[in-house]
Amino acid sequence: MVELRAARDTDADAVGTIWASAWRDGHLGHVPEELVAVRTHASFLDRAAQRITDTTVAEVDGVVAGFIMVADDEVEQVFVDAGHRGSGVAAVLLAEAERQVAGNGHASAWLAVVEGNARARRFYERLGWHDEGAFQYAARHGDTTIPVPCRRYVKKL
Ligand SMILES: CC(C)(COP(=O)(O)OP(=O)(O)OC[C@H]1O[C@@H](n2cnc3c(N)ncnc32)[C@H](O)[C@@H]1OP(=O)(O)O)[C@@H](O)C(=O)NCCC(=O)NCCS
Repeated sequence: MVELRAARDTDADAVGTIWASAWRDGHLGHVPEELVAVRTHASFLDRAAQRITDTTVAEVDGVVAGFIMVADDEVEQVFVDAGHRGSGVAAVLLAEAERQVAGNGHASAWLAVVEGNARARRFYERLGWHDEGAFQYAARHGDTTIPVPCRRYVKKL
């Protein structure tokens, strides 16, 4: 059974570990090497700790299986541990992200997905998201940003 709950500080390692590994699954070969170089395992652990209050986790049998981060009207992160993909956990998380965006007062939600991340794009499209075209996402790293060619996906809530 999937249970959703707000992340706690003690979840930061689990969230960061899933994030580091799943990010590579969805992004390697599809983003600039400059971005891969700075997205180290340690960087994900740090960011998970910093962003824990924006995070909702999905637990399966008491173990964190995936998470979302929502910021205003943006679904910023949707990441599921490899062992839980194809199980429906991701859809439960995305529905919760949409609920949070609506709760923030918005009639539609958006997210960025890299062009070559075919599995994620298929997943979003199946759940009613639409590709609104190409744009450059400014991926933050410290005080700088790295432009990443992405697709902008939108869903009316
Ligand atoms: C994106 C993610 C959250 C989706 O969760 P999931 O459990 O894998 O999603 P599902 O299995 O329900 O759906 C994936 C769909 O892609 C399809 N798919 C699987 N591998 C694929 C591939 N290589 N190319 C295209 N489609 C693929 C699946 O068949 C399924 O479509 P279907 O339902 O029409 O059969 C998960 O794969 C993940 O965490 N990926 C790594 C991190 C990531 O990329 N996050 C998103 C960043 S924007």
